[in-house]
Amino acid sequence: MDRRDLLKGMTLAAGAVAASTAIDGVAETAANAQQAAGRPEGNAVVDIKPVDSAFFISDRFAGRTFIVTGSARGMGKAAAIRLAREGANVVGVDWIKDLGEETNAAILAGGGKAAFVYGDVGDPAVADQAVAAAVSQFGRLDRLTMPASWTASIRATPSTSTSSAT
Ligand SMILES: NC(=O)c1ccc[n+]([C@@H]2O[C@H](COP(=O)([O-])OP(=O)(O)OC[C@H]3O[C@@H](n4cnc5c(N)ncnc54)[C@H](O)[C@@H]3O)[C@@H](O)[C@H]2O)c1
Repeated sequence: MDRRDLLKGMTLAAGAVAASTAIDGVAETAANAQQAAGRPEGNAVVDIKPVDSAFFISDRFAGRTFIVTGSARGMGKAAAIRLAREGANVVGVDWIKDLGEETNAAILAGGGKAAFVYGDVGDPAVADQAVAAAVSQFGRLDRLTMPASWTASIRATPSTSTSSAT
């Protein structure tokens, strides 16, 4: 049997399983239908329970400093607030000044540690300012979280001397 015959056979077999399910009139979920076709449970479609947004691990990142790009809104804002809530020092960076400062103020008001650098993350000078803020205010830089891309500044300065400490 060559490859084409093999593929044809597999298609026919899959069709037969689907047809028999339909003929039996069984209202199958996608997961049950997959299991009925002889596939292991691990391949089944399953419902995923959303994470409880109120859940957090206090002090998980205590003593660690993160730069978070795009901290003014969206994913970056959510990451900055969650990281701070879990103990991190957060240096937010964004080119929307008022909203970036709002995120920063919200972290400080909640007892967190944060700094804000205003500017374009594609500008190497802004990247340098963010690293400098991390080191001068928190003594170290551990991680970059980058919902707003940092790659433009990395490309622009391949010999940049900025570094991170772990
Ligand atoms: N929102 C989602 O559910 C989701 C899911 C998966 C992935 N993403 C990805 O995450 C990234 C962010 O999405 P989002 O929904 O949070 O977007 P958003 O537009 O709500 O937020 C992006 C933030 O980044 C800032 N920003 C963008 N470019 C910048 C620059 N050059 N300098 C400084 N700040 C800059 C913006 O001002 C804004 O505050 C996108 O790449 C998106 O595709 C988003």
